[in-house]
Amino acid sequence: MKIGIDKIGFYTPNMYVETENLAKARHIDPGKFTIGIGQEKMAVTPITQDAVSLAANAALEILTAEDKKAIDYVIFATESGIDHSKAASIYIHELLDLEPNVRSIEVKQACYSATAGIQIAKGHIALNPESKVLILGADISRYGLETSGEVTQGAGAVAMVVSADPKIMTIESPSVYQTEDVMDFWRPLHSDTAFVQGKYSVDQYIKFFQNLYYAHHDKTNIGLSDLDAILFHLPYTKMGMKALKSVVEEANEADRERLLANFDISKRYNAIVGNIYTGSLYLSLISLLELNTTIEAGSRIGLFSYGSGAVGEFFTGILQPNYREALYKEKHDNMLDNRTEVSVEAYEKTFQDTIPSGTENIELPIEQDPATICFAGIKDHMRQYVNKNN
Ligand code: COA
Repeated sequence: MKIGIDKIGFYTPNMYVETENLAKARHIDPGKFTIGIGQEKMAVTPITQDAVSLAANAALEILTAEDKKAIDYVIFATESGIDHSKAASIYIHELLDLEPNVRSIEVKQACYSATAGIQIAKGHIALNPESKVLILGADISRYGLETSGEVTQGAGAVAMVVSADPKIMTIESPSVYQTEDVMDFWRPLHSDTAFVQGKYSVDQYIKFFQNLYYAHHDKTNIGLSDLDAILFHLPYTKMGMKALKSVVEEANEADRERLLANFDISKRYNAIVGNIYTGSLYLSLISLLELNTTIEAGSRIGLFSYGSGAVGEFFTGILQPNYREALYKEKHDNMLDNRTEVSVEAYEKTFQDTIPSGTENIELPIEQDPATICFAGIKDHMRQYVNKNN
């Protein structure tokens, strides 16, 4: 049975800051951020968006009434959870008006968890071929003002429907995966910003990629010449480029050129949205599919998923006939074009505009946020969400 991605969409907040301006404000040469790190714009999240509302907005644009009837599993992947106990997927279930007979869970393993969601979905559909699984990968990436990771922040969500006979991409078996206890990036319960050993994380990421790429090759005999593109988890776009370069050196010229050119296209959305943690790899997939006008159905794509801590996976997918018809390029173009640029001062103010821990009641200014679904505040310690369409 063919199982894979039937639909895929994303959402990012309506504000961004130019990394060039951020560099100037930090007395850094802008070339370091735009070329050395490879990030151009960084999404800025208003207080009226959190992981739940970002994911709900991403899902809203892709789900039809028919999908909603068929979805019997919602898997919410995030490291920006809003409750230690209740799964974020239950809020999504309510906001999107899904059927009652749905299994809803939240999964976490840093930036790897959306891939875990896909593999869980694949097993579920193998046993239940009529089912559709909604996977959400949503995060707000926060390293802190004036930190070395600051330029690698961002926010957004990817929503995917995984099903049998998918319209976009089948997920092939086998995949290869790896776990190792590595303290490259983590966020203790008391902190709303990440702790990171940045250079160490780059080394681990490249090491994991090489291990997994070659292990996958040994297992499947799929090599660089069999892959039309290799996509990466992209905390910042230069990171993926470093990993790709570490294997394409051995390739022939045609393979090297194709893989580098497609990588270039696959990083476009990531470079202008920023780091969305677990959704990053899938944002890169959307970028490739929506911006590459020549990649044919039947092409094989390699995907490298990495979540600090660390878990990695390398797997492949095959683009399906007419996959382009299932994309939402125009919607995404509109969303990205209609964002508002904010100054570094405004970004800093928004970054610090957080709700103090333990707040019992608060109402938030959702009328200032053009998003359809917003985080509206807290009532008796219960988070409130509004779908403006209802
Ligand atoms: N023009 C062009 N490039 C420039 C430049 C300029 N004016 N100035 C510096 N650079 C380049 C550097 O040469 C370097 O390139 P290289 O990596 O290819 O060697 C790059 O910009 C970054 O410079 P560096 O001095 O290494 O930056 P840094 O000490 O500020 O740290 C990170 C960069 C990525 C380590 C840091 O931003 C970070 O920790 N980010 C978070 C990473 C993360 O999230 N990891 C966990 C998830 S997997």
